[in-house]
Amino acid sequence: MCWLIQNYIYNPEDNKHYEGAFTQGNGYVNIRGSFEEDLDGATQNDIYWRLPANVTLEKARHSKSKWGVYVPGIYGVHPILGEEIVNLPYFLGVNLYFDSERLDMEVSDYRDFTRSLNMKNAVLERSFTWKIKGNDIEVNFKRYCSMENKNLVVQELVLNSLDKDVELRLENFIDAGITTNGYNHFTKVLLENDEALKAFVTTDTNQEVGIYSKVFVDGSDKSAIGFSSSESRIIESFNIHLKKNNRIIIKKYSIITTSIDTDYKNDIRSLLHSKAKAINNNITMDSHEKLWQERWNISDINIVGDKEVQLATRFSIYHLLRAVNDSDKVAIDAKAYAGEAYFGHYFWDTEIYLLPFYIYTQPQHAKNLLMYRYNTLKGAKENAKRYGYEGARYPWEACISGWEQCSNWQYSDLEIHVTADIVYGMWNYYEATGDEEFLLNEMLEIMVETARYWVSRVDVVDCKYRLLGVMGPDEYLPFTNDNSFTNYMVKFSLNKTLEVLEIAKKNNLDKFNELKVTNEEIDLIRKVSSELVFLLDDKSKFIHQCEGFEKFLEVDFEKVWIDKSKPFGNFISQEKNYRSKALKQADVVALLYLFKNDFDEDIKKNCIKYYEKLTTHDSSLSYIFHSLVYSDIKDSKSAYEFLHKSLGIDLYGKGSAEGIHIANCGGIWQGIVMGLCGLGLSSNNKELILNPNLPEHIKKIEFKIYLKRRLYKVTVEKQQVDIKEITK
Ligand code: BGC
Repeated sequence: MCWLIQNYIYNPEDNKHYEGAFTQGNGYVNIRGSFEEDLDGATQNDIYWRLPANVTLEKARHSKSKWGVYVPGIYGVHPILGEEIVNLPYFLGVNLYFDSERLDMEVSDYRDFTRSLNMKNAVLERSFTWKIKGNDIEVNFKRYCSMENKNLVVQELVLNSLDKDVELRLENFIDAGITTNGYNHFTKVLLENDEALKAFVTTDTNQEVGIYSKVFVDGSDKSAIGFSSSESRIIESFNIHLKKNNRIIIKKYSIITTSIDTDYKNDIRSLLHSKAKAINNNITMDSHEKLWQERWNISDINIVGDKEVQLATRFSIYHLLRAVNDSDKVAIDAKAYAGEAYFGHYFWDTEIYLLPFYIYTQPQHAKNLLMYRYNTLKGAKENAKRYGYEGARYPWEACISGWEQCSNWQYSDLEIHVTADIVYGMWNYYEATGDEEFLLNEMLEIMVETARYWVSRVDVVDCKYRLLGVMGPDEYLPFTNDNSFTNYMVKFSLNKTLEVLEIAKKNNLDKFNELKVTNEEIDLIRKVSSELVFLLDDKSKFIHQCEGFEKFLEVDFEKVWIDKSKPFGNFISQEKNYRSKALKQADVVALLYLFKNDFDEDIKKNCIKYYEKLTTHDSSLSYIFHSLVYSDIKDSKSAYEFLHKSLGIDLYGKGSAEGIHIANCGGIWQGIVMGLCGLGLSSNNKELILNPNLPEHIKKIEFKIYLKRRLYKVTVEKQQVDIKEITK
């Protein structure tokens, strides 16, 4: 139950959404759920200038379909947008012809169309009956990215002629005529054929990709009847003789390898050939399914009493599981490798929204994500230097190098909270896993280097430490002083740094000595952390978003925001928005959730009441933090309403055309586990505690959680809760 995402009508208007929503992946390659065949009018190689813009307000280029094959870590350099993920050659291509008619969802006549993603085993399927000249042919496509062999993608096509014998022609193809955000990142393309199709491309960063694709027609290695190629496409053709009511099965196996594979030794061709040896026509799905089952077994959430929430929660978990990479050289981009918006860049989304899911259900992946930050520390130090500061300053938009990739100055220069968010995420990881080795080595180094940045970034004004000229999570107020979210995060990260430094110093650890931290430095970190301004008004129990927030312009939302189906930002000029009291997303509200033990109920209630009215939720990261704060203050009705809005972003709102809003997916997991079920840690971090807040109609929620390497099963019901250790 509740494992299938289905679509019954092909509609060019929402086709791109399904391509994004049906994205498959295995921790190495990610592939959008586009059709196997060409789609009339959907070109893939358009060249255009994608300019830096506010992605929330940007009009996506209209196209019915955008193929997407992404291997995280393979990137190119765009002249304006910096390092960006590269959309690789589309190797799933299969065209079917009857006489001169090519099967095409835009122009062909067909009935009973269904496509569905089975999230349990990550298999994508499409079936329909193709009506050609008085004859009906049943067509069924299936495919998956193998979890067992990460370089392997398996496709199956079953054809059955219902009325008479027919001759069809099948074209297997690889297409390298693919641009990413309108830019061609391939400096070299080589297309070949002998016993199979092959494509080799080199990116403008000199990374190499090799693809091999082989077709088996009904059990036999039937030879192709011909080959053809253009500058960007290589094709092999097969004759398919379909006897009436006699199903024919065609299998297509593809191998994709790259120069970032761990077994790459300077020769993509020999790597490809050695990996292609794994291909034979007896490959089964058993191990692939078993591996997916193992992941679900730990990460699934079972919800009794609300099918809608159940399906959307699984949808979120599915994407969290398929998008996370096995490598610690990459993270998860804002669109989860399901589209090109945000160019494959990594944001604070990783540490704040995604990490809890991995920390508690797939801790090794959490560690990899944090190690990615460690592996890009050098870039972060260079960023700090470039801005004239000490230590390490993590980029607002990160990619492979750790250098800032954001081409909009407002965010890159001012949205500095990400550097403290990373320490917050690492601390959460440490508390839940108890990974001291990491704490006293990589984490300590990041903490010290980022603390060095903060003490050089603060200004002393009126005898107070301040952070001037910053943008908080609310990106509609770009240049503010003492943003409360930022300042509180910085205080937290400096405090924790001091705690770890104390242990490291007392034990005279190598890492401590290597970092050459002086006593004066420690004193300064202590001073800044305790004296940095935090705008909590104790009397009125209210946190000000930033200095002088109340003086910004009031907005008459009813008058300005005339069509609520579109982001508010569309109805106001950027200039006016930037001086108005309209929030893009949760800011103080985010703080209330992330530090829920630090603020009392009155503060929470006052703040959410005030800020919610001003929040436009133009960012997909906003709703879920409202849901989480409402859960915390036991307003289950509002918590559920906001959770529901979050579910409407990708799945129910058909918002995945340009990729998956993966931060929201991680947020949904938190909304259920930390929100509705109220999961938290005891003050010594040794026990799980539950403070549930289930809406009336939800009868039961069950999930599993790792804490300090032990696995627990948690059951939350209206009248009772249960935490049982099930570590094997
Ligand atoms: C949000 C940021 C977020 C980014 C990527 C923006 O629209 O305002 O908070 O990090 O999207 O998801």
